[in-house]
Amino acid sequence: MCGIIGYVGARPCRDILFNGLRKLEYRGYDSAGISVLREGSFSLVRAVGNLDSLEALLDTVDDKASVGIAHTRWATHGVPSERNAHPHTDCSGRFAIVVNGIVENYLRLRAELVEEGHVFSSDTDAEVVAHLLERHYRGSFLSALRDAYAELQGHFTIVAMSRADPELILAVRKETPLVLGLGEGENFAASSVAAFMSHTRVAVFPRSGEFAEIRRHGIELYDEQGNPVAFEGHVVDWDEDAAEKGGFETFMLKEIYEQPTALVDTLAERVGPDGLVRLDGMGLQDELFRDASQIVIVACGTSYHAGLLGKYALERWARLPVEIDVASEFRYRDPVLDERTICIAITQSGETADTLAAMRVARHSGAHVLVVTNILGSQATREADGVLFTRAGLEIGVAATKTLLAQFLVLLLLALHVARVRGKLDEDTVIRTVNELRSVPASLARLLAGEAPAQLQELAQRYRGSPFFLYMGRNVGLPVCLEGALKLKEISYVPAESYAAGEMKHGPIALLTHGSPVVAVATDGRTYEKLVSNMQEVRARGAHVLAVASEGNEGIREVADHVVYVPATSEMVSPLLAVVPLQLFAYHVAQANGEKVDQPRNLAKTVTVE
Ligand code: M6R
Repeated sequence: MCGIIGYVGARPCRDILFNGLRKLEYRGYDSAGISVLREGSFSLVRAVGNLDSLEALLDTVDDKASVGIAHTRWATHGVPSERNAHPHTDCSGRFAIVVNGIVENYLRLRAELVEEGHVFSSDTDAEVVAHLLERHYRGSFLSALRDAYAELQGHFTIVAMSRADPELILAVRKETPLVLGLGEGENFAASSVAAFMSHTRVAVFPRSGEFAEIRRHGIELYDEQGNPVAFEGHVVDWDEDAAEKGGFETFMLKEIYEQPTALVDTLAERVGPDGLVRLDGMGLQDELFRDASQIVIVACGTSYHAGLLGKYALERWARLPVEIDVASEFRYRDPVLDERTICIAITQSGETADTLAAMRVARHSGAHVLVVTNILGSQATREADGVLFTRAGLEIGVAATKTLLAQFLVLLLLALHVARVRGKLDEDTVIRTVNELRSVPASLARLLAGEAPAQLQELAQRYRGSPFFLYMGRNVGLPVCLEGALKLKEISYVPAESYAAGEMKHGPIALLTHGSPVVAVATDGRTYEKLVSNMQEVRARGAHVLAVASEGNEGIREVADHVVYVPATSEMVSPLLAVVPLQLFAYHVAQANGEKVDQPRNLAKTVTVE
């Protein structure tokens, strides 16, 4: 969603801010703006559309100022327009602010402020923040922000400047992301490390409700009562190239090709010298898993699909009852949980509002919460009892790819570990499966270097005009299908549905006509024969079957119109490979249709609002 960057230092900051916004483009936006402060006055520019529109106006911004804030806006309250873009100012012109998130009580606050004589110049919820600063200002910028914050409800991050404090920016977050960058004689505030990674790797992650005073030579944090708070810097080891396309035409394609590395990095330190899984530092003791009565998994979107594989693995290997739900449903449906429940929340960003809320519901009911996330210092890591990190590196493409694979892997490792702890799998089986997982990155690299990518590009060309795609699979092939259909919808805007293949006869098969493309995930496994029957059924109705199958399965050619082979693995491991052709297929359909793959319409990388 919205992206923020603020800078205080010695260097002219206009271009630093603008380049920071470029690094935040992946979050999704429809307008943008910059304000810098020098010699007691703001220089401000805003534009609708992509950053090129803002860039065209940059010459009008003071290029000597060394304090400033900037923003990319993803519209929620008020249409995308210049007047609704941030930064916003108050009536006196003393304050300039940028906000990410939603101020839920803004209508009441706005009415009060208008009553007091404040004049609003936008339709946004965010503008109330500037006028509240004006309302509460008595000579102390920090106190004014604290008082303003106390009146605000919702989830948001605020970064603000004041003409009266020309070498200071203030920042505070309530649930939504904020990370501070500690540089040499310069400091940053941003929505993501990506915004300042080319200037500093030292990041501070303030807690919700902590106020940051950011000056050229240092940062101070205060709690809501104004007491200083100790903090530490974390060195972020993401590759700086992560924020560049590195020769690929899109971030998404680059990230698809980075998947073998994401798996290697996620596996590192997770396998002990004995060949068993090591989950050191997870934060939840083995006894909890040994004594657990159930596991509930909560997540949204692609992370939910990872959770489905986690369910299959935990049930099959660890023999624990596992329930799974999308976080937005779970949080409102009074789930039955207790202290013998372990809730696994999966969220690559660690900031998804519904997932965070679902975690709170689980904790409130006494459950122990383990989060699987890709982001160090994210809100989810602060609220969970335990954390398992995926090591996929920075993912810029809005459509998740490498983070999904890393989630699949972490969940399989967790399931193996829990199975051993509970005495449901012997050590030899665990070691054998871990070894198989270790061989996946090489198999995947071989898949990506082989014929499959070109074949998928060709298939995408052939079927790109189809008005509808059906995906079907069984067992662990089902999460793969759900993900394949989601990828296609997200980036190519082509309607696609995914069904458990056994459900076809109960409705979806009615959709099929001559030439309808049906994607079948038909890798080897316990339900393979059943799936073949379903393939025959859809072909009998004229559908064309595009099958993903295990290498060596020549027989499938008789029941499929097209076969894309992936290296053969055991069933539970197969999704790590089978999902990749579906990512590539969606990618090439979108490319063939001329869509903007990295920034699909209406979508944001991190969904920090409900
Ligand atoms: O950051 P999270 O994993 O919590 O995000 C959840 C979903 O918003 C996300 O997976 C979304 O579905 C992606 N756009 C999928 O490509």
